Amino acid sequence: MAIAATNFYLCFSIIITMVLKLHDLYFKPFISEEEIQNAVQSMVDAIVADLGDEMPVFVGILNGSFMLVSDFVKKYPKPCEVTFIKLASYEGVKSSEDIQRLIGLTQDLTGRTVVILEDIIDSGNTLEEVHRIFKNEKVKDLRIATLFYKPEAYDKDFKLHYVGKEIPNKFIVGYGLDYNGLGRDLPSVYQLKTTQHMTNIVLFGPPGAGKGTQANFLKEKYDLVHISTGDVFRYNIKNETALGMLAKSYMDKGELVPDQVTIDMLNKEVEKNTDAKGFIFDGFPRTNAQAKALDQLMDSKDSQINAMVALEVDDEVLVKRLLERGKTSGRADDADEGIIRNRIKEYYDKTAILKDYYSDQNKYFGVNGVGSIEEITVRLSAVIDKL
Ligand code: IMP
Ligand code: MG
Repeated sequence: MAIAATNFYLCFSIIITMVLKLHDLYFKPFISEEEIQNAVQSMVDAIVADLGDEMPVFVGILNGSFMLVSDFVKKYPKPCEVTFIKLASYEGVKSSEDIQRLIGLTQDLTGRTVVILEDIIDSGNTLEEVHRIFKNEKVKDLRIATLFYKPEAYDKDFKLHYVGKEIPNKFIVGYGLDYNGLGRDLPSVYQLKTTQHMTNIVLFGPPGAGKGTQANFLKEKYDLVHISTGDVFRYNIKNETALGMLAKSYMDKGELVPDQVTIDMLNKEVEKNTDAKGFIFDGFPRTNAQAKALDQLMDSKDSQINAMVALEVDDEVLVKRLLERGKTSGRADDADEGIIRNRIKEYYDKTAILKDYYSDQNKYFGVNGVGSIEEITVRLSAVIDKL
């Protein structure tokens, strides 16, 4: 037990130190040194195979390509020449169309085989400028090699002869690439975290456990957004959103709404609240597949579920509470003891699997739900404060 706890904290602190802050933004590890070196080697191998005994001039595009050019020519097994041109386009984390030519070509490349070495090709604007520069140079052959390539961002037609690694359209730093001047010196590559520091909780509790009351309290105290799947469904159906209509089409046929539809609705809610300090998910997930889908959703937001917090209340207490509530609420399903016991049983049947799912990740926290509202909120806070 002691060892497990130590390991847990060790992993936790490693995760924290791996996140990098540059100016106002956070970055997470994305491509290791080893992976970069392998990609550089594969570019070298492909180029040397194509060029044979032709002595190339490698033209690095400054500033970003300095690390690549250095590693690349060290690996290049044959004689070659190296030169640089310096172009500038990026402001902050956005590519701009206005490319500045800071240092142009300083030597005659007539008749030479030229290989451009780029750190990254994003929109292709810089590459367009490179082609403009070489239009009037009478080079024998012009080839483009880039370590990183963002296919989703590229909107030009110029051929890319050698690509080290395709990456998604997200901002990266390291290995020559910077965010407003910082990060160029890092030997590995980090990716921008788009969502920062969220506390996301899956709240569970059998009927009558006081989940609604406690969700309201947590929402206030921790500035979280409460996403009740039931409410989200009702909202989408009432407002006849595309997803609402889709969900309704299944419900009308008496079929279960596919998980993806629910996830898409939850995604919309998460996206409406990008500034939130976190979310309380209520009513979802209900199955292992849904829990995985929710993990994926949070992962796509650079975030994660931190805890499943379950209010634990003895069955007999629940039955008493619900019968009491039935006397005033008028809810038919709160009036019949048989129905109540069935609902409680169904809850445990369904959620046992999720308890295992989150326990396996050390994320299950059971909280004694018997006592006054205040007593229970104190217990819940103790769990959340530790996350
Ligand atoms: P493009 O002109 O949009 O293709 O972008 C090319 C230049 O923008 C690169 O040479 C980099 O200097 C910069 N750039 C593009 N994407 C990134 C990134 O994710 N991080 C840092 N700089 C980038
Ligand atoms: Mg560059």
